[in-house]
Amino acid sequence: MTNELKGKVNYSVNGNIAILEVDNPPVNPLSSGVRAGLSEYIAKANNDESIEGIILTGAGRSFIAGADISEFGQKPDGPDLHTALKEIEFSKKPVLAAINGTALGGGLETALVCNYRMGTNKAIVGLPEVNLGLLPGAGGTQRLPRLIGPSQALKMMIAGTPMSAKKALQQGVIDAISENSLIDDAIAFLHEKIGLNLIEHPKVRDKNEKVLEARGDDNVLSEAKALAAKTRRGQFAPGQIIACVEAAINEDDFDVGMKKESEYFLECLVNPQREAMIHIFFGERAASKISDIPKETPLLPINSAGIVGSGTMGGGIAMNFANAGIPVLVLDQDEKNLERGMGVIEKNYQMMVDRGRMTQEQKDMVLGLITPTLSYEDLSDVDIAVEAVYENLELKQEIFKSLDAVTKDHAILASNTSGLDIDAIASSTKRPGKVVGTHFFSPANVMRLLEVVRGKDSSDETMATVMSIGKRMGKAAVVSLNAPGFIGNRMLAGYTYQANMLLLEGALPNQVDSALESFGMSMGPFRMMDLVGLDLGWRARKLANIETPLANKISDALCEQDRFGQKTSKGFYNYSEGSRAPNPAPENEAIYKEISSQNNIERREISDQEIIDRCILALVNEGARILEEGVAQRSGDMDIVYINGYGFPIWRGGPMFYANQLGLSEVINKMSAFSKLDENFWKPAPLLQKLADNSGAFGEAPAPEERAQLLSFNKANMGGV
Ligand SMILES: NC(=O)c1ccc[n+]([C@@H]2O[C@H](COP(=O)([O-])OP(=O)(O)OC[C@H]3O[C@@H](n4cnc5c(N)ncnc54)[C@H](O)[C@@H]3O)[C@@H](O)[C@H]2O)c1
Repeated sequence: MTNELKGKVNYSVNGNIAILEVDNPPVNPLSSGVRAGLSEYIAKANNDESIEGIILTGAGRSFIAGADISEFGQKPDGPDLHTALKEIEFSKKPVLAAINGTALGGGLETALVCNYRMGTNKAIVGLPEVNLGLLPGAGGTQRLPRLIGPSQALKMMIAGTPMSAKKALQQGVIDAISENSLIDDAIAFLHEKIGLNLIEHPKVRDKNEKVLEARGDDNVLSEAKALAAKTRRGQFAPGQIIACVEAAINEDDFDVGMKKESEYFLECLVNPQREAMIHIFFGERAASKISDIPKETPLLPINSAGIVGSGTMGGGIAMNFANAGIPVLVLDQDEKNLERGMGVIEKNYQMMVDRGRMTQEQKDMVLGLITPTLSYEDLSDVDIAVEAVYENLELKQEIFKSLDAVTKDHAILASNTSGLDIDAIASSTKRPGKVVGTHFFSPANVMRLLEVVRGKDSSDETMATVMSIGKRMGKAAVVSLNAPGFIGNRMLAGYTYQANMLLLEGALPNQVDSALESFGMSMGPFRMMDLVGLDLGWRARKLANIETPLANKISDALCEQDRFGQKTSKGFYNYSEGSRAPNPAPENEAIYKEISSQNNIERREISDQEIIDRCILALVNEGARILEEGVAQRSGDMDIVYINGYGFPIWRGGPMFYANQLGLSEVINKMSAFSKLDENFWKPAPLLQKLADNSGAFGEAPAPEERAQLLSFNKANMGGV
């Protein structure tokens, strides 16, 4: 019997059990109607003598999605969230949350006010608020520690990653998993509990044993602080979450903890980091869309893949396909390299097993999807081939010719080139529409960024398909037009150029790195250059017989002394055997001084602020040109690139968002102060100037007819090779 009475909750009765079904498509947020419905039906069930238990569940694939963001900032209609949840928590009849799908954030917090929780085996639970710069503000920080212990609760809230039903059961977040019909099992579960004649069914808020155990144990909080420092450096919300859990541990009165949670939540809400992180959250979704390609563009089926080249990148790319469940052949021309590449793949997976990130069975399964081969003929059936051989245009063209000949007509041919012209590669095939760049970042199995490079002939289907593969792999995929350096490396050129110039003008590598790391970059530019290897540019310049540009004079001089970076244990820094930790290299200082003086540069004290401004605004100005040319579709795409591929702090929202926050006229002011150092470099991009003049902000790329000419990029200015 179903009585649809009000709003967005359905009420039905099965024997002595009332069933409240939240029905608010598509994901069941706790909108005003839902809150009112819950409130009314909890009262109704409580007032109905024939009812002995209540099931709370969701319609569709979601249990409850949490607060309704469209109501943010408005005065709530009907009961507010806390009131509605309290009514469930203080129901006289036991309430069971029957978690039919995802219960994230407020969804799980709603389940936590119920007496019992049961999930289907597909249920997903989690408190991901931290990813938006927030904390679980509907009692999650007070109830979860009581349910599963403060240590586990902190790990779950600081990571913010969703958890499978199986894991949730192991951890005690849920009490049972339903293998058959969720509602039937939930009714049976409640009948059993009702049969026990309990005077009171347990409430999570009353379960104090675990928090009391942690009282006086400093390790719980200090371990959480260490975890936050390591995984969420510079972020505000994790510290607030820890403070909430501290209250859960130390406050005798549950409601005092709740009050603190509300205060700390508000502090997160007004912190600028929240806006930055929400920008990134939506920015990643926006980046996955290609503005001029219709949504309904059919995707080409991708059921098998081939990788050409089993080196650093090829192996990692193969792992991405296997992890997404796509069988993949790995081809190399060199048997030894192939063997070594397969060995590295196996070792990487083993490391994940050792660290508990994967089971042995999972490892066997994914490894089983990767097959080595020395023969192109074996690639005849693949739906996509990704080339990852040495960075050489003729070689790549040769390989694309072979792939074109051997693969089926519909197969996509992708290149992992870091910067070669995709159109030139495509021209060696008879299917330029099926050719695209897939620029993975190293290590490819770890880094989330994937630049998808759109050639002039890449078809809509090809682009849409590759973007969807990126999604299947869990990558942050961003489209770039085929222009030098694509998005990320093109912006990076100006950033490292400024770092190198600062070194010539008087700063030391350690100072530059520390300033930028305190800004939030995961690794300063000199540590990064040491990691990549200073010899790459040096060799390339020698090979091409190019005179060393001013900005590279110091790194080339270091190479002349065999200081190539980490690979030779010395570069800008010194490294002890087998360690990646940089130690200052005072012996380099004489070289710095000598080169500065040879070039008539008077070394001076440079402030940390100048270092930050020059390096970060170099990213911004080049980003403006990239946007103006339409190489990136929108400024948010560049933010996604920088956060996922270059260690830019997520809580600053990416370089372009940072510039918008700073105000573009302030960006121009700062740049014009630097123009006396280098007038040419600090010339504002026309789009930046125009937006600043109109109090505008970076957003979408201009319409095609208003775009600046593509490839206005001048490598010589930027200190490139
Ligand atoms: N290493 C990085 O950090 C990185 C990052 C992004 C993009 N890339 C790009 O990825 C590509 C591969 O770089 P890598 O670092 O993996 O190179 P690598 O030197 O580690 O591996 C290249 C592999 O290609 C194989 N190979 C060479 N010619 C071949 C042929 N004709 N047929 C089959 N196999 C052949 C080699 O035997 C070797 O195993 C390059 O275009 C590079 O610019 C590299």
